[in-house]
Amino acid sequence: MPDKKIITIFITLVIAFLGYTAYLYLYPPFQTNETDTLVNTGKMVWQNNNCQACHQIYGLGGHLGPDLTNSYSKRGPEFIKAFVMAGTPIMPSFKLNDNEMDALLHYLQHIDSSGSSDPRKFTIHFNGTIE
Ligand code: HEC
Repeated sequence: MPDKKIITIFITLVIAFLGYTAYLYLYPPFQTNETDTLVNTGKMVWQNNNCQACHQIYGLGGHLGPDLTNSYSKRGPEFIKAFVMAGTPIMPSFKLNDNEMDALLHYLQHIDSSGSSDPRKFTIHFNGTIE
């Protein structure tokens, strides 16, 4: 009976869909990092100075400057500090005070520890999720 076959296939697909959905929600492939207040202050420094107009975090943002998701581990805090304070011919300088700079660096460190923004470095798991 073709009708029975269709119903069997439909029910199998629904069960597979619900099973996979439950599995993904029960075992999320990411860790939830608690954010502290200094990181949140740093995020505000980032937003108030409009860094995202020219820079991306995880590929989102402006494209005049480079993606800064992993700049903390690639370049280090001293390099970032020097870049932000001095600027370059194509990036404006920002005269941040010590507290703002400290918070901004904590924010960039936090973003850096959340993962890699380079898709070529992603690990693909057997269940189709990436890390
Ligand atoms: C008007 C656009 C613009 C804004 C706004 C801007 N930047 Fe930039 N930034 C650039 C450009 C362009 C470069 C590349 C400059 C170069 O190589 O001379 C850059 C480079 C950098 C670098 C060095 C990256 C690397 O790995 O070489 C850092 C760090 C940086 N910016 C941080 C910041 C932060 C933090 C802010 C906000 C406080 C900010 N930028 C705001 C345009 C901008």
